[in-house]
Amino acid sequence: MEIAIIAPGREVGAWSDLINVNSGIKPQIWPDIQNPDLVELAIAWKPPQGVFNTFNNLKLISSFGAGVDNILSDSLIPDVPIVRIVDAKLTEDFSNFMVMQVLNFHNGTWQHIENQKQHHWELDRLPRSTWEVGVLGFGVLGKVVAEKLSFLGFKIHALQRRPKQNQNIRTYGIGDLGQLMSQVDILINLLPLTRDTRGILNLKNFQKASKPFYLINGARGEHLIEGDLLKALDLGLIQGACLDVFTQEPLPSSHPFWDNSKVIVTPHIAGISNPETVVEQILENFTRVKQGRPLFNQIDVITGY
Ligand code: GLV
Repeated sequence: MEIAIIAPGREVGAWSDLINVNSGIKPQIWPDIQNPDLVELAIAWKPPQGVFNTFNNLKLISSFGAGVDNILSDSLIPDVPIVRIVDAKLTEDFSNFMVMQVLNFHNGTWQHIENQKQHHWELDRLPRSTWEVGVLGFGVLGKVVAEKLSFLGFKIHALQRRPKQNQNIRTYGIGDLGQLMSQVDILINLLPLTRDTRGILNLKNFQKASKPFYLINGARGEHLIEGDLLKALDLGLIQGACLDVFTQEPLPSSHPFWDNSKVIVTPHIAGISNPETVVEQILENFTRVKQGRPLFNQIDVITGY
């Protein structure tokens, strides 16, 4: 029985050590897999196409993170359960990061940082109105982000696959995206990346807004048509954007986002899985799959999340 870690380019030493301590199994780190036929658990992040098919006795695939699009993009994926990470620490870090970016735009802090560079003292952004925030994606992370922002006094409109009645948060189905967009001062994207959501942040949808708004993308670069964002910024449809994720990561140094004063670039750090808090649930799922018990956070390969 072997565990394989397949995460090209990612530092996995701490993961491997903790798995070893907690399970007594020293993981094989791709591409140095000694006995592919013995691999029963694969822990993966952006694995190369077809790699899972080399493991004839695979029982479980676990993502390193909250998203599984990087795994489902393997068209040769075998028919084994796939689980993702849902972790209280990850949720806390991620939601705090989103709140910080909303407050940054709402308080004009990013403008003050720009003004400081010019030694320019400018007060005239106050007082601040109550902002309406659109949260695309009302899953584990989206709900906590929405609740925290609602507590802080923001009015929340959330996009949910099957909208349900909520006390402080108004929810909308995908068919009502236009209605949601027409109300927001700031839009946060937290959707899973699927066939249906790829490219959802596009000019046509930006034009559904009734006032200039700010955009935060905390999900995947492929949700955003990057050229459309640049157009929307030029047209004044979007006033500023905070992007943590990009189609190509690391963001190439020649990319126009780096020098655009209306774009804040962060290097995919909004929520980072911490092996200290996450390894246990991966191993628990491995035990469960061997015992034929229900798994935590198993994803549906049809919906893609
Ligand atoms: C990070 O992007 C994750 O999916 O955990």
